[in-house]
Amino acid sequence: MPAALRALRADITTLQVDAVVNAANSSLLGGGGVDGAIHRAAGPDLVHECRLLDGCRTGDAKLTQGYRLPARYIIHTVGPVWRGGTSGEPELLASCYRRSMEIARERGMQTIAFPSISTGIYGYPIDLAARIAVDTVRQAVDGMPSLREAIFCCFSPADLAVYEAALAESPPD
Ligand code: AR6
Repeated sequence: MPAALRALRADITTLQVDAVVNAANSSLLGGGGVDGAIHRAAGPDLVHECRLLDGCRTGDAKLTQGYRLPARYIIHTVGPVWRGGTSGEPELLASCYRRSMEIARERGMQTIAFPSISTGIYGYPIDLAARIAVDTVRQAVDGMPSLREAIFCCFSPADLAVYEAALAESPPD
């Protein structure tokens, strides 16, 4: 059976999953938003491991331990800054979800939780981003027999409503 996709409203640092995804910047050394929350909750060992990773390109993803988080791992990905939509933003955002799912597949993960990548400080319109997130994760789960659940972790009720609409528009095959 393919993994279930669902959206919920939560602080991603509280979720007990195999991996939480971090919406990082290319330095991987921390920042604001969900990145800051993850670094604060995971503790200082996280930035020590991140220093060894030599950064991350936009659209790519890298794995670390979860340290003090309930999640075992953190997958750090770098979303695109929204520049109007014609600078490759949709492809780069889809690549963030695809690369994160590839890492989860390589590790045989069963559960993964994504924040709404690029839709905070990086300014990506949430309705467009949610559709890309849901479609890309939906495609990836087909090749992942070990995965049980992919969660879209929304920080606000308004974001949750957008993700629920995107999930309803993209039913499983
Ligand atoms: N749990 C779940 N979602 C959260 C949390 C949380 N604890 N905190 C914020 N969000 P953003 P971006 C939501 O700005 O747009 C950082 O400085 C937030 O409401 O965190 O990809 C990085 O270092 C929004 O829906 O990430 C980069 O420089 C979503 O997470 C830059 O921000 C993403 O918002 C990345 O910007």
